[in-house]
This record gives sequence, C-alpha cells and structure tokens, in this order.
Amino acid sequence: EADPTALPPNVPWWGHYLGDGVEAHPYGKPSEYEAHVVRRNVPWLTATTESSVNFTPIHELHGFVTPNGLCFERHHGGAPSLNPADYRLMINGLVDRPMIFSMEDILRFPPVSRFHFLECAANSGMEWRGAQLNGVQYTHGMIHCVQYTGVPLKVILDQVGVKPNGTWLMAEGGDASGMNRSFPLEKALDDAILAYAMNGEMLRPENGYPLRLVLPGWEGNMWVKWIRRIEVGDQPWFAREETSKYTDLLDNGKARYFTWEMDAKSVITGPCPEKPVLRKGINQIKGLAWSGRGRVKEVHVSTDGGRNWMQARLPDPVLPKCLTCFNAEFEWHGEEVLLQSRVVDDTGYVQPTMAALQKVRGVNSIYHNNAIQTWLVNQTGEVENVRLG
Ligand code: MTE
Repeated sequence: EADPTALPPNVPWWGHYLGDGVEAHPYGKPSEYEAHVVRRNVPWLTATTESSVNFTPIHELHGFVTPNGLCFERHHGGAPSLNPADYRLMINGLVDRPMIFSMEDILRFPPVSRFHFLECAANSGMEWRGAQLNGVQYTHGMIHCVQYTGVPLKVILDQVGVKPNGTWLMAEGGDASGMNRSFPLEKALDDAILAYAMNGEMLRPENGYPLRLVLPGWEGNMWVKWIRRIEVGDQPWFAREETSKYTDLLDNGKARYFTWEMDAKSVITGPCPEKPVLRKGINQIKGLAWSGRGRVKEVHVSTDGGRNWMQARLPDPVLPKCLTCFNAEFEWHGEEVLLQSRVVDDTGYVQPTMAALQKVRGVNSIYHNNAIQTWLVNQTGEVENVRLG
C-alpha cells in the first residue's frame, strides 16, 4: 500500500531526513522491501535439510546473472565452513608429478573469468509424470548463472603432467558426503575451470568455498564443490552419483548413464504462478533460455499451447553455456491463455514437448527433463502449472 503523503506533489518523508552513513552496512544487503526474494525449499522433498536442495527465485531476477545469495544450493552432506589456510587440493594417479596445491598456489596462476549456468540434472524432475509444483521457483529453480573466476583445469594438469594412458579424471569433494564424479580428460582440457570466485567475490561456503569444479554446460552434480582431490585414471570410476543416481531410466527399461551435457531448455519466468497477469491489454512475457551445447539461437513463445509461435527478442549478450534472457509481448483480454516457450540452440536442437521426450525416456525418469513448460493463465489472470496432452 502506498503512503499518500509520500506521493507527488508531496516531498516524501525520506527527503526530509538524513539517511544511513557509509559505516552502516560494511557488506551491503538488499532493501528490506525485497525480503520475499529468497531461496526456498520444499520440506517434504527430502528427509533432512543437509542432504537437500533449495531453489533460486528465478521469477524475481532481472538479467541473466544470479546474485550470490540467491544461487540455489544442493548438497548431500551439508555445507562445510572451510578455512582456506587449511585447504589443499591433491592431484594424483596417472601423472608424472603428483602434487598438493594450497589456495595461495592456486591464486598465483593467471585467472580466467566466464559466465556459465549451472543446472542440477534434477531440475524439473518432479514434473515427469504431470504438473506437480505450482511455481517456477520450484519447477525450474535448480539453476543459477554467475561469472566464475578461477584457473583453467588444463593449467593445473600441465603442472602435474598427465601420463599418456591418463584419459579419465575423478573429482572428489571434501565435504561429509565425499561426493565424487568421473569425467573425461577432453572436458578438462577444453573448458573446465577450478573456480574460487563467483560474481567478483570469493565463492560462498554453500557453493564450494574455497574451490569448486566448473564444467560448463554439463550437469550440476559433476561440479564438485569443496574439491579436495583429482585423480587421473584410464577408466571411469562408476561412483555412486553416476550409477545409482543421475542416470536416466529409458522407455525400454535400460538405464543410460553419463548424460553430461544439459540439453537446451527455456521457461517463462513472468507470467508464472508467482507472477499473475494483473492488467488487460499489452503484457510482457519474459524468460530464460540456455543450452549446454553452446549458444541460444532463437526462442519462440506461444499463447495457444504451441499451435502458433512467435519469435522472442534476445537482448545482448547471448553467451555460450550461459543463461540468455528473452522477452515478447502478448495482448490479454481476460481469456484463458496457454503460455509456452521453446528454445533452439546453435546446433539446431529444438526443445521438445513432454510427449516427445516421454517417447524416448518413458515416464519413470527423474533427471534431465528439458520439456516445454506450459502455464495456464485463467480468466482472472492467475497462472497455473499444467500439462498438455
Ligand atoms: N559437491 C560436493 N562436494 N558435494 C555435493 O553434495 N552436490 C552437487 C554439486 N557438487 C555436491 C557437489 C550437486 S547435485 C549439484 S546440483 C551442484 O553441486 C549444486 O551446486 P550449488 O550448490 O552451487 O548450486
């Protein structure tokens, strides 16, 4: 509710008094009026909060960068608080010179800074069998996008010298879950980063402080946080997180493992269940699109459940393996509308419908759901998560 004495032509009260001095907030925080913009969890989803997940409020964000305090967290053994003075990264296995690096050592290498999205393979996982969670924060909020700064993993591997038969790497976390994942050497040499900073400041504890693995475009589970060891081997480790979890049960009953690249996906973040349509007339559609394979080429939006599509605007920048914003207008006169978005990436891949995805993947999958999302705008402007067909 607006305070009428603050509105023109009055001079509002805050124009009559001095505000806070520069010592009031040594580390700045959002306005108290933005207190609703927070990560949220779904209490019934997991037995404990330590092995759990919370969700990024993507419907409240502007642009493609996620503020550090709003990046969703996913961990299997809680977020440890590490003193960087005690931190070490060990590299062993099929290398010429096994080495242990301190944070001081890591910070001496020339840094790179790149924007990348991290999407948990379980993002939208609850939506496989039908519309489940009525909010984009919950259906699509296991994603964040920040600017990472760190050392290319290739630079560190050059220090230890990978032996000719070293073709696989295993990254191991230093948290209580000791979570580990295998990945091929080609990815390490291509664009993997050992990151110590996000959005210009050191990583937050919950995102892996002081060092995490960044595997651009690949499923979030592989981005090992609090990384304490990398072993070089000649075959994958078949760790728990790549056999019993993060595999995809297909329609033919076989399970697929090593689905690393995140397929192209998009979602409308306004209107959405948390952001109803408030006015008749011209309304904005805004959303996010991404692809683990490269850049977003086009985003199409539909207001009739996918029968007709129009091209959305993609404001700059459109970066590879990074969230990309899109927007478009639609006119609303109080009728029911079925809003959808569909991304095409620069490999030509088109985001599928759920029906198309289920033909290949069946109905028992959890991970890697990149299907088109439908929002039903009803006659009062409220928005609901629905499944078509
Ligand atoms: N690394 C360690 N050491 N322990 C973990 O539990 N969780 C993984 C991955 N790295 C995890 C981890 C999972 S499942 C995801 S989706 C991402 O971290 C989440 O990263 P975030 O917490 O920065 O969002």
